[in-house]
Order: sequence, then C-alpha cells, then structure tokens
Amino acid sequence: MRVPTVRTAVIPAAGFGTRLMPASKAVPKEMFPVLDKPVLQYVVEEALACGMDRLVLVISEGKDAIRRHLENDARLEAFLAARGKSDILEKVRDIAGAAEMEYVIQPEQNGLADALLCAREAVGGEPFGVLLGDAIIVSPPGEPSGLSQLKAVYERTGQAVVALREVALEQVSRYGIVDGDAMDPADPALIQVRDLIEKPSPDAAPSRLAINARYIFPASIFTYLDALPKSAGVEAYLTDAMVQLAHREGLWGYLWNARRYDIGNIPDYISCLLDLALADPKLGPIVRERLAHSSGLGPGE
Ligand code: UTP
Repeated sequence: MRVPTVRTAVIPAAGFGTRLMPASKAVPKEMFPVLDKPVLQYVVEEALACGMDRLVLVISEGKDAIRRHLENDARLEAFLAARGKSDILEKVRDIAGAAEMEYVIQPEQNGLADALLCAREAVGGEPFGVLLGDAIIVSPPGEPSGLSQLKAVYERTGQAVVALREVALEQVSRYGIVDGDAMDPADPALIQVRDLIEKPSPDAAPSRLAINARYIFPASIFTYLDALPKSAGVEAYLTDAMVQLAHREGLWGYLWNARRYDIGNIPDYISCLLDLALADPKLGPIVRERLAHSSGLGPGE
C-alpha cells in the first residue's frame, strides 16, 4: 500500500496559556526559552527532522513574537555580519528559510479543535502532523524521535495515529484517555483505538493511556471537526472528532518511546530546563555542581 508522504505540520500556538500567567501575558509560552532556544524552535526542528517542511502555524493577534522569531531579520543579520559574528548569524538564520511557513490566525481561543479548523484551508487535502507548540518531545539517546515513531506507524497502517503515554491514575483527568487494544503481538506498543474520553475521572477512565501532544491525521479529520456541535462558551473537543475518525476510518495509538514536556505548566517547564541542561555536555557539569551546592534562598556566600 502506498500512503501519501506527510509533508505538512500544523503547530497550534494560539492559546492564552493561562496557567503561566502573568509570565505568558506578553511573551507567548511557545517563546519561553529552554537553554538557548525558545520552545517553538524545538518543535519546528522536530518537524523538519521528520521531513515535514510545510509548516502551518496557528497563532493569535497577540502572538506576533512567534512570527518574528521564525522570519528573517535583515537588520539583525546586517548587524551581526558587519561585526563578523558569523557563528551567531548562522544560528539566527538557521530556522528561517528551512521550511515553507504559513501563518493562520485563530480569532478566538476556543480550544484545539477550533485551532485546527482554522488551519483547514492552509493544509489542503493532504495528511498532516499536529505538533502542539508548547510541548518539547525528547526520546532516549540513540532512539528515533517520537514523531518519526508515529510516522512509521502511519506509513505502515495508512491510518491516523496519535502518541500515547501511560500516566498515573490520579493524572488521567488532565488528558484525553484511550480505550483500545494491542492487536499485534510483535508490536505491543501499537493500540487500535476504539474510543476516547476527554479528561475522565479516575473511576471512569478506560485505561491510563493518555494522548501525548503529537498526531498524524488524514485531511478527513476536518469533516469530523466541522460536524462537532457548537455552542457559545463550550469548547468542542478534538477527541470527539477523533472518536468519529476511529469509528469510520480507523485510528491507532502508539505508546511511544519518548518523553513529553508540557511547557504550559511550571513543574514540567522546570523539569525540561533541568533535564536538557543536565544532558548538555558543557552545561551539565556546571548545573550539577550548582545543584549540589545550592543553599536555596538562604544567605549567600
Ligand atoms: P493548552 O491546552 O495548554 O491550552 O494548549 P492554553 O489555552 O494554551 O493554555 P492554558 O490551559 O490556558 O494554560 C495546547 C496547545 O494548543 C494551543 C496552545 O497555544 C498550545 O500550544 N492552543 C490552545 C491553540 O492554538 N488555540 C486554543 O484555543 C487553545
């Protein structure tokens, strides 16, 4: 079976990020720094590394910083070139021009389902990836990236696939949770999705398998998104459209070998900073040393 290549990635980045207020009021959470790059740059590089070189960024009116970061900045580049700072010049130029970028505005922050519908025209009729703009995904050293694990499932099955991660029972009410079965004894990580429940209580959860910020969809998902009931002030859930997709066309979950950091909450943001710093050959020893000798907010030396 020949399945169309996934070249397009939709990156929803239009949310208010209320959990990070007031830090996220003027600076989008997707632009929060993690070491020397904003979160969004990790997401863009993840898409590019997986061969997705048409990026559709869903942003809101107040999130122009995202666009400015991804576009060329002639004044800055001239400044750096004139001072011979070619290494920094390379870093700021790197991301702009690496992909075809399109920006769409989500006028009201009505949730993820609405954000994807805003990208409908820009996506066209091709299958596409969805990469939440506030999630950094890290796979163990030497392992394929989380997104390429999903892409392999899509290429094998020709059907939609969503990343899954097992979470603690007390945490299921924060996620979309999957009801499904492993079908292939040779690959127990591959789950055929029967149903999905958005943020269930622990006693109503069909499993502990939570949706994990990355998806690959056929363009037909837009039909199901469009058909979701709309009522003012009530968010339509992407998971409800995915249930329709599962019943009518098939949907796979993949219990991937990757870790997702949700930058939208402070503990995860701190974990992400720490883990990436500790894994960095230059920064790692310095951070380890500082942590060992930190006396918190006690008197300084
Ligand atoms: P979240 O679920 O974290 O929602 O979004 P949020 O509104 O940004 O943050 P909180 O819950 O208020 O703290 C996951 C991703 O989807 C995007 C966000 O920008 C983020 O990258 N998103 C969310 C949109 O693009 N539009 C929306 O209406 C909501």
